[in-house]
Amino acid sequence: MAKQVSSQGLQWFQDNRFGMFIHWGLYSILGRGEWVMHFERIAPADYHPLAQQFNPIRFNADEWVNTAADAGQKYLVITSRHHDGFSLYDTALSDYKTTNTPFKRDPIRELADACARRSGIKLGFYSSLLDWQHPAYRFRKESGLAWSDYLGFLHGQVRELCTQFGDLACLWFDGDWPRHAIDESNTHFLAGGSFEYEKLYDMIHTLQPHAVVINNRHEDPLPGEDIQGFEQDLPGMNSAGFNTTQVSTLPKEVCMTINGNWGYHHTDHNHKSARRLVHFLARSASGGANFLLNVGPTAEGEILTVHARRLRQMGTWLKLNGESIYGTRAGIIPPTAESVSTRRENVHYVHVLEYFSDSVLLENVPDSVQQARLLCDGTPLHLERRDTTTVLTIPDELRDPFDTVIELR
Ligand code: GLC
Repeated sequence: MAKQVSSQGLQWFQDNRFGMFIHWGLYSILGRGEWVMHFERIAPADYHPLAQQFNPIRFNADEWVNTAADAGQKYLVITSRHHDGFSLYDTALSDYKTTNTPFKRDPIRELADACARRSGIKLGFYSSLLDWQHPAYRFRKESGLAWSDYLGFLHGQVRELCTQFGDLACLWFDGDWPRHAIDESNTHFLAGGSFEYEKLYDMIHTLQPHAVVINNRHEDPLPGEDIQGFEQDLPGMNSAGFNTTQVSTLPKEVCMTINGNWGYHHTDHNHKSARRLVHFLARSASGGANFLLNVGPTAEGEILTVHARRLRQMGTWLKLNGESIYGTRAGIIPPTAESVSTRRENVHYVHVLEYFSDSVLLENVPDSVQQARLLCDGTPLHLERRDTTTVLTIPDELRDPFDTVIELR
Protein backbone atom coordinates (compact mmCIF):
# COMPACT_ATOMS: atom_id res chain seq x y z
CA MET A 1 0.00 0.00 0.00
CA ALA A 2 1.27 3.42 -0.92
CA LYS A 3 2.19 5.63 1.99
CA GLN A 4 0.05 8.66 2.69
CA VAL A 5 0.26 11.81 4.72
CA SER A 6 -0.42 11.47 8.47
CA SER A 7 -4.03 12.13 9.49
CA GLN A 8 -2.73 15.05 11.54
CA GLY A 9 -1.03 16.55 8.47
CA LEU A 10 -4.10 16.05 6.32
CA GLN A 11 -6.29 17.67 8.93
CA TRP A 12 -3.92 20.63 9.29
CA PHE A 13 -3.98 21.14 5.55
CA GLN A 14 -7.77 20.96 5.25
CA ASP A 15 -8.38 23.12 8.31
CA ASN A 16 -6.15 25.84 6.95
CA ARG A 17 -8.10 26.29 3.71
CA PHE A 18 -6.32 29.35 2.28
CA GLY A 19 -2.76 29.59 0.94
CA MET A 20 -0.49 31.88 -1.06
CA PHE A 21 1.05 30.56 -4.27
CA ILE A 22 4.24 32.31 -5.39
CA HIS A 23 5.60 32.11 -8.93
CA TRP A 24 8.97 33.78 -9.00
CA GLY A 25 12.12 33.20 -10.99
CA LEU A 26 14.26 34.46 -13.88
CA TYR A 27 11.11 34.91 -15.97
CA SER A 28 10.06 37.69 -13.59
CA ILE A 29 12.87 39.78 -15.12
CA LEU A 30 11.33 39.58 -18.59
CA GLY A 31 7.83 40.22 -17.21
CA ARG A 32 5.97 38.16 -19.78
CA GLY A 33 4.84 35.23 -17.66
CA GLU A 34 6.60 32.05 -16.56
CA TRP A 35 6.20 30.37 -19.95
CA VAL A 36 8.15 33.07 -21.81
CA MET A 37 11.08 30.75 -22.57
CA HIS A 38 8.76 28.31 -24.30
CA PHE A 39 6.40 30.74 -26.02
CA GLU A 40 9.16 32.92 -27.40
CA ARG A 41 11.37 29.93 -28.23
CA ILE A 42 14.30 31.23 -26.26
CA ALA A 43 17.18 28.74 -26.34
CA PRO A 44 18.71 27.84 -22.97
CA ALA A 45 21.98 29.48 -24.02
CA ASP A 46 20.11 32.76 -24.53
CA TYR A 47 18.00 32.42 -21.39
CA HIS A 48 20.76 31.44 -18.95
CA PRO A 49 22.39 34.91 -18.91
CA LEU A 50 19.26 36.22 -17.16
CA ALA A 51 20.78 34.70 -14.04
CA GLN A 52 23.41 37.44 -14.18
CA GLN A 53 20.61 40.00 -13.95
CA PHE A 54 18.81 38.39 -11.00
CA ASN A 55 19.15 40.84 -8.14
CA PRO A 56 15.82 41.38 -6.33
CA ILE A 57 17.10 43.96 -3.88
CA ARG A 58 13.64 44.66 -2.48
CA PHE A 59 12.96 41.03 -1.55
CA ASN A 60 12.07 40.72 2.12
CA ALA A 61 10.86 37.30 3.25
CA ASP A 62 9.19 38.67 6.38
CA GLU A 63 7.17 41.10 4.27
CA TRP A 64 5.88 38.32 2.03
CA VAL A 65 4.96 36.21 5.01
CA ASN A 66 3.27 39.21 6.67
CA THR A 67 1.30 39.90 3.50
CA ALA A 68 0.09 36.30 3.53
CA ALA A 69 -0.73 36.45 7.23
CA ASP A 70 -2.71 39.70 6.82
CA ALA A 71 -4.68 38.03 4.03
CA GLY A 72 -5.56 35.15 6.33
CA GLN A 73 -3.40 32.74 4.32
CA LYS A 74 -1.94 29.90 6.34
CA TYR A 75 0.56 28.38 3.94
CA LEU A 76 2.87 29.49 1.16
CA VAL A 77 3.73 27.39 -1.86
CA ILE A 78 6.71 28.71 -3.79
CA THR A 79 8.24 27.57 -7.07
CA SER A 80 11.45 25.89 -5.90
CA ARG A 81 12.24 25.34 -9.59
CA HIS A 82 9.82 26.12 -12.40
CA HIS A 83 9.88 24.72 -15.94
CA ASP A 84 12.80 26.98 -16.92
CA GLY A 85 15.04 24.98 -14.59
CA PHE A 86 16.31 27.80 -12.38
CA SER A 87 16.37 26.89 -8.67
CA LEU A 88 15.33 29.46 -6.09
CA TYR A 89 17.48 27.86 -3.40
CA ASP A 90 21.05 26.76 -2.89
CA THR A 91 20.65 23.27 -4.33
CA ALA A 92 23.72 21.05 -4.42
CA LEU A 93 22.44 19.49 -7.65
CA SER A 94 22.70 22.46 -10.00
CA ASP A 95 24.74 25.62 -10.51
CA TYR A 96 21.74 27.32 -12.03
CA LYS A 97 20.44 28.91 -8.83
CA THR A 98 19.99 32.15 -6.93
CA THR A 99 23.22 31.83 -4.95
CA ASN A 100 25.14 32.06 -8.25
CA THR A 101 23.54 35.36 -9.25
CA PRO A 102 24.48 38.91 -8.22
CA PHE A 103 21.86 38.47 -5.48
CA LYS A 104 23.87 35.58 -3.98
CA ARG A 105 21.14 34.87 -1.37
CA ASP A 106 18.86 31.86 -0.87
CA PRO A 107 15.26 33.19 -0.88
CA ILE A 108 13.74 29.85 0.08
CA ARG A 109 15.96 29.57 3.14
CA GLU A 110 14.91 33.11 4.08
CA LEU A 111 11.24 32.30 3.57
CA ALA A 112 11.52 29.12 5.62
CA ASP A 113 13.11 31.14 8.43
CA ALA A 114 10.43 33.84 8.15
CA CYS A 115 7.66 31.20 8.33
CA ALA A 116 9.32 29.67 11.37
CA ARG A 117 9.29 33.09 13.09
CA ARG A 118 5.58 33.52 12.43
CA SER A 119 3.58 30.79 14.07
CA GLY A 120 0.67 29.27 12.19
CA ILE A 121 2.16 29.68 8.72
CA LYS A 122 3.75 26.77 6.91
CA LEU A 123 5.85 26.57 3.79
CA GLY A 124 5.31 24.20 0.88
CA PHE A 125 7.06 23.68 -2.43
CA TYR A 126 6.02 23.66 -6.04
CA SER A 127 8.35 21.46 -8.02
CA SER A 128 8.37 21.20 -11.80
CA LEU A 129 8.56 17.67 -13.08
CA LEU A 130 9.92 18.89 -16.38
CA ASP A 131 12.99 21.05 -16.97
CA TRP A 132 13.42 22.97 -20.22
CA GLN A 133 17.17 23.26 -19.91
CA HIS A 134 18.41 20.20 -18.02
CA PRO A 135 20.75 18.22 -20.28
CA ALA A 136 19.31 14.91 -19.12
CA TYR A 137 15.75 16.09 -19.71
CA ARG A 138 16.01 18.07 -22.87
CA PHE A 139 19.35 17.27 -24.48
CA ARG A 140 19.72 13.58 -23.89
CA LYS A 141 20.85 12.88 -27.43
CA GLU A 142 23.53 15.54 -27.38
CA SER A 143 24.67 15.03 -23.80
CA GLY A 144 24.78 11.25 -23.72
CA LEU A 145 22.87 11.36 -20.45
CA ALA A 146 20.04 8.99 -19.59
CA TRP A 147 16.53 9.47 -18.24
CA SER A 148 17.75 7.97 -14.98
CA ASP A 149 20.18 10.89 -14.67
CA TYR A 150 17.26 13.27 -14.83
CA LEU A 151 15.28 11.27 -12.30
CA GLY A 152 18.28 11.35 -9.98
CA PHE A 153 18.26 15.14 -10.20
CA LEU A 154 14.49 15.50 -9.77
CA HIS A 155 14.18 13.10 -6.85
CA GLY A 156 17.40 14.49 -5.37
CA GLN A 157 15.99 18.02 -5.34
CA VAL A 158 12.78 16.84 -3.71
CA ARG A 159 14.91 15.12 -1.08
CA GLU A 160 16.73 18.41 -0.44
CA LEU A 161 13.43 20.25 -0.12
CA CYS A 162 12.13 17.63 2.31
CA THR A 163 15.20 17.67 4.54
CA GLN A 164 16.48 21.25 4.68
CA PHE A 165 13.55 23.53 5.41
CA GLY A 166 11.70 22.12 8.40
CA ASP A 167 8.14 20.79 8.53
CA LEU A 168 6.38 21.45 5.24
CA ALA A 169 2.71 21.92 4.40
CA CYS A 170 2.89 20.25 1.02
CA LEU A 171 4.79 19.18 -2.06
CA TRP A 172 3.09 20.38 -5.22
CA PHE A 173 3.88 18.86 -8.61
CA ASP A 174 3.42 20.25 -12.08
CA GLY A 175 4.55 19.48 -15.59
CA ASP A 176 3.76 15.89 -16.45
CA TRP A 177 2.00 15.98 -19.78
CA PRO A 178 2.11 12.44 -21.09
CA ARG A 179 0.46 13.27 -24.39
CA HIS A 180 3.40 15.46 -25.31
CA ALA A 181 5.96 12.92 -24.19
CA ILE A 182 7.81 12.37 -27.43
CA ASP A 183 7.23 15.41 -29.54
CA GLU A 184 10.41 15.97 -31.51
CA SER A 185 9.09 19.15 -33.09
CA ASN A 186 8.73 20.70 -29.68
CA THR A 187 11.70 19.70 -27.60
CA HIS A 188 10.47 21.59 -24.55
CA PHE A 189 8.09 18.73 -23.91
CA LEU A 190 10.54 15.95 -24.44
CA ALA A 191 10.10 13.73 -21.41
CA GLY A 192 11.52 10.28 -21.54
CA GLY A 193 10.03 7.88 -19.10
CA SER A 194 8.10 7.59 -15.95
CA PHE A 195 8.66 9.98 -13.07
CA GLU A 196 8.61 7.00 -10.70
CA TYR A 197 5.90 8.54 -8.61
CA GLU A 198 5.66 5.61 -6.25
CA LYS A 199 9.26 6.05 -5.18
CA LEU A 200 9.01 9.83 -5.14
CA TYR A 201 5.87 9.94 -3.01
CA ASP A 202 7.15 7.26 -0.68
CA MET A 203 10.27 9.30 -0.04
CA ILE A 204 8.19 12.41 0.69
CA HIS A 205 5.87 10.60 3.07
CA THR A 206 8.85 9.09 4.85
CA LEU A 207 10.82 12.32 5.19
CA GLN A 208 7.83 14.63 5.73
CA PRO A 209 5.09 12.56 7.33
CA HIS A 210 2.81 15.59 7.81
CA ALA A 211 3.14 17.13 4.34
CA VAL A 212 0.47 16.45 1.73
CA VAL A 213 1.28 15.52 -1.84
CA ILE A 214 -0.77 17.54 -4.30
CA ASN A 215 -1.18 15.88 -7.65
CA ASN A 216 -0.33 17.22 -11.04
CA ARG A 217 -3.75 18.50 -12.07
CA HIS A 218 -4.19 16.67 -15.32
CA GLU A 219 -4.10 13.23 -13.80
CA ASP A 220 -6.65 11.22 -11.96
CA PRO A 221 -5.15 10.71 -8.52
CA LEU A 222 -2.42 8.07 -8.18
CA PRO A 223 -1.60 6.09 -5.04
CA GLY A 224 0.30 8.31 -2.62
CA GLU A 225 -1.39 11.53 -3.74
CA ASP A 226 -3.29 13.09 -0.85
CA ILE A 227 -4.96 16.08 -2.47
CA GLN A 228 -6.55 16.43 -5.89
CA GLY A 229 -5.56 19.72 -7.45
CA PHE A 230 -7.61 21.91 -9.78
CA GLU A 231 -6.29 24.81 -11.78
CA GLN A 232 -8.04 28.13 -12.48
CA ASP A 233 -11.48 26.75 -11.70
CA LEU A 234 -13.58 24.94 -9.13
CA PRO A 235 -13.58 21.14 -8.86
CA GLY A 236 -15.58 19.61 -11.69
CA MET A 237 -15.46 22.82 -13.73
CA ASN A 238 -13.02 23.20 -16.53
CA SER A 239 -13.60 26.63 -18.01
CA ALA A 240 -9.94 27.16 -18.82
CA GLY A 241 -9.29 23.67 -20.18
CA PHE A 242 -6.65 22.71 -17.58
CA ASN A 243 -8.53 20.22 -15.45
CA THR A 244 -9.93 16.80 -15.52
CA THR A 245 -13.65 17.07 -14.80
CA GLN A 246 -13.43 13.85 -12.78
CA VAL A 247 -13.76 14.78 -9.16
CA SER A 248 -12.30 12.12 -6.91
CA THR A 249 -13.16 11.49 -3.28
CA LEU A 250 -9.82 13.01 -2.19
CA PRO A 251 -9.72 16.37 -0.42
CA LYS A 252 -9.12 19.10 -2.96
CA GLU A 253 -7.27 22.28 -3.69
CA VAL A 254 -8.07 24.96 -6.26
CA CYS A 255 -5.18 27.13 -7.43
CA MET A 256 -5.83 30.42 -9.17
CA THR A 257 -4.19 33.58 -10.44
CA ILE A 258 -5.37 37.08 -9.44
CA ASN A 259 -4.86 38.34 -13.00
CA GLY A 260 -4.29 35.94 -15.91
CA ASN A 261 -0.66 34.96 -15.29
CA TRP A 262 1.26 33.00 -12.68
CA GLY A 263 4.62 34.67 -13.23
CA TYR A 264 4.87 38.48 -13.30
CA HIS A 265 3.43 39.92 -16.53
CA HIS A 266 3.87 43.64 -17.05
CA THR A 267 0.89 44.18 -19.38
CA ASP A 268 -1.63 41.95 -17.61
CA HIS A 269 -3.87 44.28 -15.62
CA ASN A 270 -6.90 42.04 -15.65
CA HIS A 271 -7.08 41.62 -11.87
CA LYS A 272 -10.07 39.87 -10.33
CA SER A 273 -11.90 41.90 -7.72
CA ALA A 274 -11.57 41.01 -4.04
CA ARG A 275 -15.27 40.17 -4.09
CA ARG A 276 -14.79 37.59 -6.85
CA LEU A 277 -11.81 36.15 -5.03
CA VAL A 278 -13.77 35.79 -1.77
CA HIS A 279 -16.47 34.02 -3.79
CA PHE A 280 -13.90 31.56 -5.12
CA LEU A 281 -12.60 30.98 -1.60
CA ALA A 282 -16.12 30.33 -0.28
CA ARG A 283 -17.10 28.17 -3.25
CA SER A 284 -13.89 26.15 -2.90
CA ALA A 285 -14.47 25.61 0.83
CA SER A 286 -18.08 24.65 0.17
CA GLY A 287 -16.85 21.87 -2.10
CA GLY A 288 -14.21 20.66 0.35
CA ALA A 289 -11.33 22.43 -1.38
CA ASN A 290 -8.52 24.69 -0.24
CA PHE A 291 -7.89 27.86 -2.20
CA LEU A 292 -4.31 28.62 -3.26
CA LEU A 293 -4.16 32.14 -4.61
CA ASN A 294 -1.16 33.18 -6.66
CA VAL A 295 1.07 36.24 -6.66
CA GLY A 296 3.85 36.82 -9.21
CA PRO A 297 6.39 39.11 -7.55
CA THR A 298 8.49 41.47 -9.69
CA ALA A 299 12.16 41.10 -10.56
CA GLU A 300 12.88 43.49 -7.67
CA GLY A 301 11.21 41.03 -5.32
CA GLU A 302 7.96 42.81 -4.59
CA ILE A 303 4.39 41.56 -4.55
CA LEU A 304 2.37 43.93 -6.75
CA THR A 305 0.60 46.63 -4.75
CA VAL A 306 -2.67 45.86 -6.52
CA HIS A 307 -2.39 42.20 -5.44
CA ALA A 308 -1.41 43.07 -1.87
CA ARG A 309 -4.51 45.29 -1.70
CA ARG A 310 -6.79 42.45 -2.86
CA LEU A 311 -5.20 40.16 -0.28
CA ARG A 312 -5.72 42.68 2.53
CA GLN A 313 -9.39 43.05 1.55
CA MET A 314 -9.81 39.29 1.72
CA GLY A 315 -8.08 39.32 5.11
CA THR A 316 -10.51 41.94 6.40
CA TRP A 317 -13.45 39.80 5.35
CA LEU A 318 -11.85 36.71 6.90
CA LYS A 319 -11.26 38.46 10.24
CA LEU A 320 -15.04 38.71 10.61
CA ASN A 321 -16.05 35.55 8.81
CA GLY A 322 -13.07 33.18 9.06
CA GLU A 323 -14.99 30.79 11.28
CA SER A 324 -17.07 29.87 8.21
CA ILE A 325 -13.92 28.89 6.26
CA TYR A 326 -11.16 27.59 8.54
CA GLY A 327 -11.73 24.18 10.05
CA THR A 328 -14.86 23.62 7.99
CA ARG A 329 -15.72 20.87 5.54
CA ALA A 330 -17.94 20.72 2.45
CA GLY A 331 -21.49 21.85 3.14
CA ILE A 332 -24.55 19.62 3.00
CA ILE A 333 -26.93 22.44 2.10
CA PRO A 334 -26.68 22.29 -1.69
CA PRO A 335 -25.27 25.28 -3.58
CA THR A 336 -27.62 27.49 -5.59
CA ALA A 337 -26.96 30.44 -7.86
CA GLU A 338 -27.22 32.64 -4.77
CA SER A 339 -25.46 30.75 -2.03
CA VAL A 340 -23.07 27.98 -0.99
CA SER A 341 -22.50 26.40 2.39
CA THR A 342 -19.78 25.05 4.61
CA ARG A 343 -20.13 23.11 7.80
CA ARG A 344 -18.51 22.36 11.12
CA GLU A 345 -20.28 19.37 12.64
CA ASN A 346 -23.82 20.57 13.41
CA VAL A 347 -23.19 24.19 12.56
CA HIS A 348 -23.89 25.24 8.99
CA TYR A 349 -22.58 28.41 7.40
CA VAL A 350 -24.57 29.77 4.49
CA HIS A 351 -22.54 32.12 2.29
CA VAL A 352 -24.89 34.43 0.47
CA LEU A 353 -23.05 35.63 -2.63
CA GLU A 354 -25.86 37.11 -4.73
CA TYR A 355 -29.41 38.34 -4.11
CA PHE A 356 -32.14 37.67 -6.64
CA SER A 357 -35.00 38.62 -4.32
CA ASP A 358 -35.60 39.62 -0.72
CA SER A 359 -35.09 36.13 0.59
CA VAL A 360 -32.66 33.30 0.13
CA LEU A 361 -34.11 29.83 -0.42
CA LEU A 362 -32.31 26.76 0.90
CA GLU A 363 -32.95 23.04 0.59
CA ASN A 364 -31.82 20.18 2.79
CA VAL A 365 -31.44 22.24 5.95
CA PRO A 366 -31.43 19.65 8.76
CA ASP A 367 -34.50 19.61 11.00
CA SER A 368 -32.31 20.22 14.02
CA VAL A 369 -31.56 23.76 12.84
CA GLN A 370 -33.56 26.23 14.94
CA GLN A 371 -31.80 29.55 14.67
CA ALA A 372 -30.11 31.77 12.15
CA ARG A 373 -27.77 34.65 12.93
CA LEU A 374 -25.32 36.84 11.13
CA LEU A 375 -21.90 35.35 11.78
CA CYS A 376 -19.97 38.62 11.97
CA ASP A 377 -21.99 40.21 14.80
CA GLY A 378 -24.58 37.71 15.96
CA THR A 379 -27.66 39.62 14.74
CA PRO A 380 -30.58 37.13 14.78
CA LEU A 381 -32.24 36.58 11.41
CA HIS A 382 -35.68 35.41 10.43
CA LEU A 383 -35.75 31.74 9.46
CA GLU A 384 -38.91 30.25 8.05
CA ARG A 385 -39.69 26.67 7.02
CA ARG A 386 -41.98 26.19 4.01
CA ASP A 387 -42.31 22.46 3.35
CA THR A 388 -38.84 21.29 2.41
CA THR A 389 -37.59 24.79 1.75
CA THR A 390 -35.99 27.06 4.32
CA VAL A 391 -36.33 30.77 3.73
CA LEU A 392 -33.88 33.30 5.13
CA THR A 393 -34.50 37.00 5.03
CA ILE A 394 -31.51 39.32 5.17
CA PRO A 395 -32.26 43.02 5.44
CA ASP A 396 -30.29 45.23 3.06
CA GLU A 397 -28.30 46.93 5.78
CA LEU A 398 -26.95 43.63 7.05
CA ARG A 399 -25.58 42.47 3.70
CA ASP A 400 -21.83 42.18 3.32
CA PRO A 401 -20.66 43.50 -0.06
CA PHE A 402 -18.52 40.37 -0.58
CA ASP A 403 -20.26 37.46 1.11
CA THR A 404 -22.84 37.55 3.92
CA VAL A 405 -22.36 34.57 6.18
CA ILE A 406 -25.34 33.21 8.10
CA GLU A 407 -24.74 30.73 10.85
CA LEU A 408 -27.41 28.07 11.26
CA ARG A 409 -27.62 26.18 14.53
C1 GLC B 1 0.33 25.32 -15.35
C2 GLC B 1 1.57 25.98 -15.90
C3 GLC B 1 2.47 26.53 -14.89
C4 GLC B 1 1.91 26.93 -13.58
C5 GLC B 1 0.86 25.98 -13.12
C6 GLC B 1 0.21 26.42 -11.85
O1 GLC B 1 0.39 23.96 -15.31
O2 GLC B 1 2.35 25.08 -16.64
O3 GLC B 1 3.22 27.53 -15.46
O4 GLC B 1 2.96 26.92 -12.71
O5 GLC B 1 -0.09 25.81 -14.09
O6 GLC B 1 -0.94 25.71 -11.63
